[in-house]
Amino acid sequence: MKIIETSHIAKRYIMGSEVIEALKDVTISVNKGEYVAFMGPSGSGKSTLMNIIGCLDTPTSGQYILNSKDVSDMSENELAEVRNKEIGFVFQTFNLLPRMTSLENVALPLIYAGYTKSQRTEKAMLALKNVGLEQRAGHRPNELSGGQRQRVAVARALVNDPSILLADEPTGNLDTKTSYEIMDLFDQLHQKGNTIVVVTHEDDIAKYAHRIIRLRDGLVESDIINPTPTKVQHLTTL
Ligand SMILES: Nc1ncnc2c1ncn2[C@@H]1O[C@H](COP(=O)(O)OP(=O)(O)OP(=O)(O)O)[C@@H](O)[C@H]1O
Ligand SMILES: [Mg+2]
Repeated sequence: MKIIETSHIAKRYIMGSEVIEALKDVTISVNKGEYVAFMGPSGSGKSTLMNIIGCLDTPTSGQYILNSKDVSDMSENELAEVRNKEIGFVFQTFNLLPRMTSLENVALPLIYAGYTKSQRTEKAMLALKNVGLEQRAGHRPNELSGGQRQRVAVARALVNDPSILLADEPTGNLDTKTSYEIMDLFDQLHQKGNTIVVVTHEDDIAKYAHRIIRLRDGLVESDIINPTPTKVQHLTTL
């Protein structure tokens, strides 16, 4: 089943008299349960494409079907609703709220979904357990390591059971060992059936994905199946 379907997507930015074609003509589809990496040089359009896929932005032209819904021309409010339901985001900079505990950070998206306090706590604890962090539920971000912070962010992204996990350079702020721990976690999430799209410029990180799409100058340069994806190998913390 197709979960992401873009058809001739373009994104143009107008800066004064200059027109920047961040995406020129991108047609891709991703099936439920796939694990895909977007690669490509700086400025090739990776984040622009991720933002459109994640319903943070809409294309200038072309069509985007997300989980059988045409989201190409949705209003801000409609997009926000689809985003909350369908997408879990992980960012390079974690984006956790500093005054909140791990548990509170993870429970946050559930407030908008209308759960009671006790349901939120239960679901958030389960999500923390799934990333191996139930022992850190009461810690604030500054009381956690970088890798633990990113795992809290992953738990928050998944607490609503989204259709897709989107990660833009999730290991960009982590050391090598911690990066591998996060990729191991992604691998496990993929094995559990999650659909994952990750942006990275590191070959080692992309090799965990089962499919690698390379962008260049706003176009898909190549789209290949990775015959030998890297498997969980650094399993120390989970
Ligand atoms: N809001 C914006 N306004 C104007 N131009 C933009 C905007 N966002 C991105 N661009 C331009 O669009 C092009 C693609 O940017 P994008 O952020 O998608 O690249 P990227 O592949 O993610 O690069 P990086 O690897 O450096 O993160 C770039 O030339 C960028 O300058
Ligand atoms: Mg980018």
